Amino acid sequence: MITAITKEKNKIRSSILELQSELVAWRRQLHKHPELAFKELQTAEFIVSKLQQWGIDYEANIAQTGIVATINSPISGPVLGIRCDMDALPIQEENEVSYRSCNHGIMHACGHDGHTAIALGTAYYLSQHRGEFKGTVKIIFQPAEEGPGGAKPMIAAGVLENPKVEAIIGLHLWNNLPVGTVGVRSGPLMAAVETFNCTIFGKGGHGAIPQQTIDSVLVSAQIVNTLQTIISRNIDPLESAVLTVGELHAGSGLNIIADTAKMRGTVRYFNPNLRDYFPTRMREIIGGICQSHGAKFELEYTHLYPPVINDFVMAELVKSVALEVVETPLGIVPECQTMGGEDMSFFLQEIPGCYFFLGSANKEKKLDFPHHHPRFNFDESVLSMGVEIFVRCVEKFGN
Ligand code: NI
Repeated sequence: MITAITKEKNKIRSSILELQSELVAWRRQLHKHPELAFKELQTAEFIVSKLQQWGIDYEANIAQTGIVATINSPISGPVLGIRCDMDALPIQEENEVSYRSCNHGIMHACGHDGHTAIALGTAYYLSQHRGEFKGTVKIIFQPAEEGPGGAKPMIAAGVLENPKVEAIIGLHLWNNLPVGTVGVRSGPLMAAVETFNCTIFGKGGHGAIPQQTIDSVLVSAQIVNTLQTIISRNIDPLESAVLTVGELHAGSGLNIIADTAKMRGTVRYFNPNLRDYFPTRMREIIGGICQSHGAKFELEYTHLYPPVINDFVMAELVKSVALEVVETPLGIVPECQTMGGEDMSFFLQEIPGCYFFLGSANKEKKLDFPHHHPRFNFDESVLSMGVEIFVRCVEKFGN
């Protein structure tokens, strides 16, 4: 029995490994021609040409550049979604590689070229092995993950309906983990992403005559300090949250008290119950400090992406499959949470699912620059591994 299972396992692996050179070729083709959010036209064309070539049903131009490929098995069963993103970043590539970006100032510096290649490989494999899984797989190629977000408009366009998707999985190549490992856990994986924009209105004047002014710089300094007490004194210390004031602009001369000051920043947290807490508490703090100085303020607060929260059953499914692929419990890394965010969260708000990290760094090969770095690159051997995990998840989900 064990031998039969091992044989079957090796059969899947060896046929996926046969795809490796093509996976690399597709990834490099996409890497050469990166496109920004909602402008993934060539990328979409490339995906569509492959789907047509393989006789896979698809729908294109969803939420502008998104695509959904549908692969049916002759055996009836559940509907599983696989989500990948396909946009690049406004970064000038510094890698000296043959497949370096041809688009000036635009680069696949987050690995979404790899995600698309993995999703294509999965589509191809499943289309060639329709009798080996049950039900339907919908592969969702989503635009604009890096912002403003393509998941929400794709859901609004109905990608989770007809047939109704019951659960969803997705992965991110992850240079914080070495190739050969998988970061997977149930519960919160990535943080909510929220932003704020605040203007302090004081009263400008002469730097030597402060009694006639309301100093917006002094008021801002107190606000920047006190906002950190939300993290250190208001939030349960067992919760994780971050508040960063990333920009503070004020003043036009060393002897001038600034009339207004502007600050912008970001808030991150895992617990969805904190959604309303931050803007409320920030308004209290900013309002209180402004009032004590006679200043006024305006605060714009935006909830961009909710936290990525994995379903227990789906995370267990991915974990068990990943264990078969990496073949050692040491290869499964549950301590992989990050305060980075992802709009995969919108899918996970609709249906149970699991988003996971596929370790992609290789230190010896100097393929370990962080995501969004002009020299970001990853170990391409990870591509067939990604396909294998997706394919095995599909097979297991139907059983
Ligand atoms: Ni990314």
